[in-house]
Amino acid sequence: MKKFVEVLADKTSLIERARAVVVDKIVSAIASNGQCSIALAGGSTPKPLYEALAQEDLPWEKIHIFWGDERYVAPDHKDSNQRMARQAWLDKVAIPESNIHPVPTQAQNPTTDAESYEVVVKDSLPVEDGTFPKFDIILLGMGDDGHTASLFPQTPVLNETTKAIAVGNKDGEPRITFTVPLINQANCVLFLVSGKNKQTALEQVFAPQGDAITYPSRLINPQGELWWLLDLDAGAKLEATVSG
Ligand code: 6PG
Repeated sequence: MKKFVEVLADKTSLIERARAVVVDKIVSAIASNGQCSIALAGGSTPKPLYEALAQEDLPWEKIHIFWGDERYVAPDHKDSNQRMARQAWLDKVAIPESNIHPVPTQAQNPTTDAESYEVVVKDSLPVEDGTFPKFDIILLGMGDDGHTASLFPQTPVLNETTKAIAVGNKDGEPRITFTVPLINQANCVLFLVSGKNKQTALEQVFAPQGDAITYPSRLINPQGELWWLLDLDAGAKLEATVSG
């Protein structure tokens, strides 16, 4: 794993830097493989990044979109990660609908939907024998409790070692999520973290020793590149390259 940590002066420069890195990784993946598979993060932080990516002139027909996690709601629900990304980005570019692979949430059974999404992911991506599907890029956020995707502290999904897609749990609410081994198979994982409320969790995640079950973002160590792009509000206490 190759790790990059950058602390940007403010959220605007964080989003600009993230845009540049993501575009570079998309272009590189297409140059290498003829296409790019990217899994999107939910929450609020990435929305301006998606709005910036909507302004890019990219070979959209070569880009395949997935979601690293999804709330167990209808696609048009205000909390849907799919809805946010479509409104901020995907509805504004000429990406074929067949290249957009949303998490199913309509079976009235989260386990059924997670199993269905696992089939979609495995049918869409290269899977070497005995390993997990390999994404070119996985975008992640981090909660102020140190969770990422829907891998919440002290939840059973943190111990999943065989499934690629599983059912997470946020305060009793089901969520569909990538598992740790799926995320760690990626060529590039990029965390985007902004805000003072993330400082404490970041310190715990970056500490040389710590409890990954309490701070699940510690579990993310991809075999490819790991990028942490932080704004100063979030990353002020970390030793890192300060840029932007
Ligand atoms: C979700 C996300 C989740 C998010 C973090 C950070 O579905 O909410 O996948 O993991 O990335 O909770 O959220 P903010 O960007 O809103 O702080």
